[in-house]
Amino acid sequence: MLRVETTLKYATLGLAAIVLVALAIAPFSKSLIEQWSRYDVEERSRLVYNSIHGPVVRAMADRAWDRLGSIFEGVAQDERILAVGLCDEAGTLVSPSKLMPRTFSCEKVARSEGESFSSIVNDGRKVLVGSFPIVDRAQKAYLVVLHDLSFIDARSGEAQTFLVATLAGVVITVAGAASIVAVLTFRGWMRSLQQAVADIRFGGARVTERRELTPIDMQIQALLREIDVGKVPFETAQIDWSPRTLQDLLHNALPGAEVLIVSNREPYIHNYSDHSHSGATITLQTPASGVVSALEPVMRACGGTWIAHGSGDADRETVDARDTIAVPPDAPSYTLRRVWISEEEQDGYYYGLANEGLWPLCHIAFVRPVFRETDWRAYEAINRRFADAVAAEARSEDPIVLVQDYHFALAPRMIREKLPKATIITFWHIPWPNAETFGICPWKERIIEGLLGSTILGFHTQFHCNNFFETVDRFVESRIDREHAAVTLAAHETMVRAYPISIEWPPKALVGQPSIETCRAEVRHKLGLPADVAIGVGVERFDYTKGILDRMKAVDGLLTLDPSWKGRFVFVQVAAPTRSKLPSYKMLQSEAVALADEINARHGDATYMPIRLIVCHHEPAEVLRLFRAADLCIVSSLHDGMNLVAKEFIASRDDERGVLVLSSFTGASRELSEALIVNPYDTHAMANALDAALRMPVDEQCERMRLMRQQVRERNVYRWAGRMLIDAARSRQRQRILDIAERSDRHPAKIH
Ligand code: G6P
Repeated sequence: MLRVETTLKYATLGLAAIVLVALAIAPFSKSLIEQWSRYDVEERSRLVYNSIHGPVVRAMADRAWDRLGSIFEGVAQDERILAVGLCDEAGTLVSPSKLMPRTFSCEKVARSEGESFSSIVNDGRKVLVGSFPIVDRAQKAYLVVLHDLSFIDARSGEAQTFLVATLAGVVITVAGAASIVAVLTFRGWMRSLQQAVADIRFGGARVTERRELTPIDMQIQALLREIDVGKVPFETAQIDWSPRTLQDLLHNALPGAEVLIVSNREPYIHNYSDHSHSGATITLQTPASGVVSALEPVMRACGGTWIAHGSGDADRETVDARDTIAVPPDAPSYTLRRVWISEEEQDGYYYGLANEGLWPLCHIAFVRPVFRETDWRAYEAINRRFADAVAAEARSEDPIVLVQDYHFALAPRMIREKLPKATIITFWHIPWPNAETFGICPWKERIIEGLLGSTILGFHTQFHCNNFFETVDRFVESRIDREHAAVTLAAHETMVRAYPISIEWPPKALVGQPSIETCRAEVRHKLGLPADVAIGVGVERFDYTKGILDRMKAVDGLLTLDPSWKGRFVFVQVAAPTRSKLPSYKMLQSEAVALADEINARHGDATYMPIRLIVCHHEPAEVLRLFRAADLCIVSSLHDGMNLVAKEFIASRDDERGVLVLSSFTGASRELSEALIVNPYDTHAMANALDAALRMPVDEQCERMRLMRQQVRERNVYRWAGRMLIDAARSRQRQRILDIAERSDRHPAKIH
């Protein structure tokens, strides 16, 4: 833009200078032309004199006045010469040519020694009289040559017209040239802008040549620098991710942005302590959900509104008229907005489509997904209800909406329709299967299109991002830019990125925990275990994806492989009942109970029970106490997006002891390589891994645990949220530039 302005400025100055020069020259041009013309006429008069001097002298000597007259008449044929004659010494005009003016008199001819020029007026026209002395013996006369000067006025008029026309031509030419330069420069600016926009969108891959930086390049680069909020510290330096970092990030990169979360599970559930409700007290429960344990600390740090299903039987009693409640109850820092779902809707949306359809579809656990049309309709309706709630709760037109998980695949597009300017970050907490597997879902296109309403779509691993790209490629007409990890559908671009989720560091539940020794003593006391018995733990929802049966079989294998562990090792499995309405879950529970009984019968006796299966919900502090009491922890998921239990175990071990046995089919195994990585389908190998864990020297335990703790500390949940928010900030800035570019296309003058 600066270049355009400069060009126009110089063009205007140039034009002004030309006009000034023209105005200054105009008065002089006439006299200049008169002078030039007069000089020209005088020269011609001299020429005449010189050319007829000889014949005139001879005619005078011969007194041949007629001859003289015809000489003069011949000369006067020239169109500029008015008349020619001879003035004798007495002042008499001799042999004048025909057109000699009557007003001419020899009296007025200067009697000088040399030539002279004077003017007379004849019929209102100026006439130049040139007089040249001619001496012949005793006679002296003057040849007079009269020129009509009226042509000079015509000539100067013509000259002025020509001057004006020339100036006009110059002005038009200069103005035209300036316009062309301005247009070319403006196009160059637009190219700069488009280049910059392309740089952002395509990572500079389409830059073909290096150019010198123009002022507009610099302006655009300044904007781009704004976009790169936090890029350098985030990607290159060790940043201490904490609630404070997250708050600063929000404050600096997304000033004034409103944060809304959408999830199925609520972070705080109010239940009556007894089901009759009469006179019962209300208890508060924190659910055993990966989503909740990851997002709750983020919300405590950021504030905002969390929209979730009010699933507790006392939930309605504890909200205000707008269905909201400030949480956490002990130190409120954000709002929980509850959405109500009837039992029938819950059967279709949650149990049906989400957990009998999408859950087994996305996890390789060999449980057949079930798809029912009625479930799909309920799923659609509930997604719409949550999208409406987002629109109702949003106080701005462009909030940041964090949509969580497979319960809300349709919500991103529905929210986008209601709040087109919202930054929608959808996180898919479970794996994304390959295209072939996903292809069995009857509503695959709708699900993909729904998700592509998001600004950013996150998975735990790059592997799942790649599966998603393949699925989109197979089933939806869209543009996939794998290099820049983006999908464009109906002119809307969604970035698809891997954001490995994590836990808060240090976990809130660790605060006030007793020492490791106390925890061990307490747990042993509770379970009736002697001090020399090694403890292995497993803690999760009672879900078939978690490989609970497989780890029990590995314990069986260990005790078979090395019976010396009998009486010296106990495995404690805490399993929180979940989705118990569903046949697959019911079956798992009964199978697990039967298997535990079988193994206990095989290896135990009246005093020794190698497997303790505890089927109930544990609050986070109790879970951490169990972790702190353990010698090893088994996470043997058959398939898991991330698995936060593994990270919680590590976080609980501030003594740097304990061994993690971790399934290679968890997202966590990509980060926690110091764990003993196992294949849960390989019972024998897992039994060996348990043996190795139980025999691992303390030094080695410390080495491994220290490295894993460092990993979880640094890559904590604030980093997970922070990375998404940084990308959200970049996306918002990018949108700002695209908006400027779009406006400037229509109104170039508006760009400054
Ligand atoms: C997994 C899912 C979460 C879900 C959690 C608990 O971790 O990814 O979205 O919240 O399981 O499941 P539930 O059905 O009890 O909410």
